[in-house]
Amino acid sequence: MIKIAVLGHGVVGSGVVEIIEKNKQHIEKNVGEKIIIKRILDLRDFDVPYANLFTKDYDDILNDDEISIVVEVMGGVHPAYDFAKAALEHQKSVVTSNKELVATKGAQLLQLAKENHVNFYFEASVGGGIPIIRPMNNCLAANRIKEVAGILNGTTNFILTKMIHEQMPFDEALKMAQHLGYAERDPSADIDGHDSCRKICILASLAYGVQVNPEQVYTEGISKVTLEDVEYANACDCVIKLIGYVKWLEEDNTLSCMVCPALISKQSQLAGIEDVFNGILVRGDMTDDVVFYGKGAGKLPTASAVVADVIDIAKRDKTNHSLTWVDDKINHVMDYRKLNADYYVRVCTDAISDIKEQISQVFGEVTYLTRNHQPENEYAFLIKNICEQDFTDKAQKLSAQHIEITSKIRVLNY
Ligand code: HSE
Repeated sequence: MIKIAVLGHGVVGSGVVEIIEKNKQHIEKNVGEKIIIKRILDLRDFDVPYANLFTKDYDDILNDDEISIVVEVMGGVHPAYDFAKAALEHQKSVVTSNKELVATKGAQLLQLAKENHVNFYFEASVGGGIPIIRPMNNCLAANRIKEVAGILNGTTNFILTKMIHEQMPFDEALKMAQHLGYAERDPSADIDGHDSCRKICILASLAYGVQVNPEQVYTEGISKVTLEDVEYANACDCVIKLIGYVKWLEEDNTLSCMVCPALISKQSQLAGIEDVFNGILVRGDMTDDVVFYGKGAGKLPTASAVVADVIDIAKRDKTNHSLTWVDDKINHVMDYRKLNADYYVRVCTDAISDIKEQISQVFGEVTYLTRNHQPENEYAFLIKNICEQDFTDKAQKLSAQHIEITSKIRVLNY
């Protein structure tokens, strides 16, 4: 019999309890023995049939030699990190859904797991119920990963879907997402891209074997995307999605990694991922593109990934399974200002003549887009292959001529 403890009885924690109870026979058949929850740590009191399992004292778990797996589903870095660290040092494996913990402390906790011959697993930290960590680590292991790109946040994808298909303004769509319980407690984690950033950091670290930290990754959210931008994107057969990507730049031996709203072609496999769903495209040098799709959030999808990790560890019996990356203290991520990209740009002007000529003088050849009811003083266009720093300098030149950039969104090719 495998005995586990669950730290946190929120949405995911209560889902873990529910799945282990509901699917106990199926799980027992799979593992070959029973998995039972011996303790649940939470500072709150709950009126549930299993109230006798609760404790407010972590030592009750740490000092219990019968507990071999600790499930951390509290969220946040502290005290989650301290609890996970202590559990590994007590030779207990740790399973977490906590992307902030894995994105910032992953290398340390993986090393600690190795030293203590136990495991640190985090399938649920990216893509909720979508299998992605284990497939990348195992099934795609023969590939060199050229690139990973994903729609990694359900809330922002829901908002953008409403903007694209129902012309719903951003604020209204956000309120709806909050009402439906998709958004994080602090919606800026979703809409400013931080949640996606943590997830792409985890995938980048896993794909390239080195710790990629959230503060190294340029992150832009969707709060500046307007219905006008959505309309112009449609005019060039694109949709706007919040994309987190990482790419190995072989010639520079460095990573290009960022989170940003982007125009992507409607033909892209990521373009059809809508509502609260997530999709992750992994470009292997042997497989080419493999896309993972499903529910990236929610109680039971996320908890099912947590329980799957518990099952995997239960079958391994105190062996460390080599899922790893190292923190070599080097920033492997290239300065985003040096990266080249294609851009969609929208400008407004109070100048009266030669606007297109002035735009061409600054940016060279551009492709103009049009939309219904386009105001006379608004221009939108696509620019090819320009470096971010160069773009900033040129935007200042336009501004000096009373042509102000009101939107600037990357065009990505997936
Ligand atoms: N708020 C997150 C999302 C939850 O919308 O995707 C899962 O990380």
